[in-house]
Amino acid sequence: MAGRWKNDLNWSDTTPKAAWLNRRQIMAGMGAAAFGGIAGPALAGLGAVKSEYSTVEEPNPLDHITSYCNYYEFGTGKEDPARNAHMLNTDGWQVEIDGLVDKPGTWTMDDILKGTTLEERIYRFRCVEAWSMVIPWVGFELADLLARVGVQSGAKYVAFETALRPDEMPGVRSPVIDWPYVEGLRLDEAMNPLTILATGLYDEPMPNQNGAPIRLVVPWKYGFKSIKSIVRISLTDKEPPTSWNKTNGREYGFYSNVNPTVDHPRWSQASERVIGGGILAKRKPTLMFNGYGQEVAGLYEGMDLAKFY
Ligand code: MTE
Repeated sequence: MAGRWKNDLNWSDTTPKAAWLNRRQIMAGMGAAAFGGIAGPALAGLGAVKSEYSTVEEPNPLDHITSYCNYYEFGTGKEDPARNAHMLNTDGWQVEIDGLVDKPGTWTMDDILKGTTLEERIYRFRCVEAWSMVIPWVGFELADLLARVGVQSGAKYVAFETALRPDEMPGVRSPVIDWPYVEGLRLDEAMNPLTILATGLYDEPMPNQNGAPIRLVVPWKYGFKSIKSIVRISLTDKEPPTSWNKTNGREYGFYSNVNPTVDHPRWSQASERVIGGGILAKRKPTLMFNGYGQEVAGLYEGMDLAKFY
């Protein structure tokens, strides 16, 4: 999949990207039918259908999303993933699903995608480092996959793990993180319809630097919860360890909901720098739950979000 993105001919080779993206944005404003007409067979993309969960905000262009990344397995610089992630071989990718499920087992990407309708989810994306983008992901609800494996009644959390391949991931030679990268969600967070497993963006397969072939996207949480290149999903009854919490528990909690009223110990979270806005652009105020409060605030009723940060 990732090889296709990098090496084979796709729309970006045949259509000047800027022209296409511009046209696409105009059509997006005209409604689903017009959009479908343009984005369908003519462009031979993934054919993702539109979703009511998408924001109407304008997405960042593809080159922002693919060139300014956090993927420490390929280096800690923002441009390292774009430079190095081609080394990751995603052929024959498998995801182990285990723990408190009725049908534990190994899933190929074909198994996972069979019978799934891919949706385009245009989400706001807010990094804990106080920058943000708008990203047109392609994916499906994690809840759908969990339904297929059958979650057992004792399960309370979902744990995720990224591939660990020292030969393909130059960044894992340095111990910035206790590899592999791991993340977790409470089961009700995982089942929320906003929580997706993304396999593409801009209607094309996921670029390696953004987490090919399959990554999590949880739009109301800081970006580091959205773990990339997943190889294991485990249902558990205990809160699973998470990489940034293990690295620095004082600064990064398990929940990590976007919250403009709880500052990071070293910087304010009240506002964000919009990537692509230019150095003169005004910072944008950060929204509680990254603007997704209507969908998710109920998950945290009665919880002190300054304590459970
Ligand atoms: N997943 C893995 N495995 N390794 C990482 O370093 N970085 C996280 C998250 N998922 C990271 C990861 C952070 S800090 C962010 S902000 C997002 O990925 C960035 O996603 P993007 O590069 O696609 O914008």
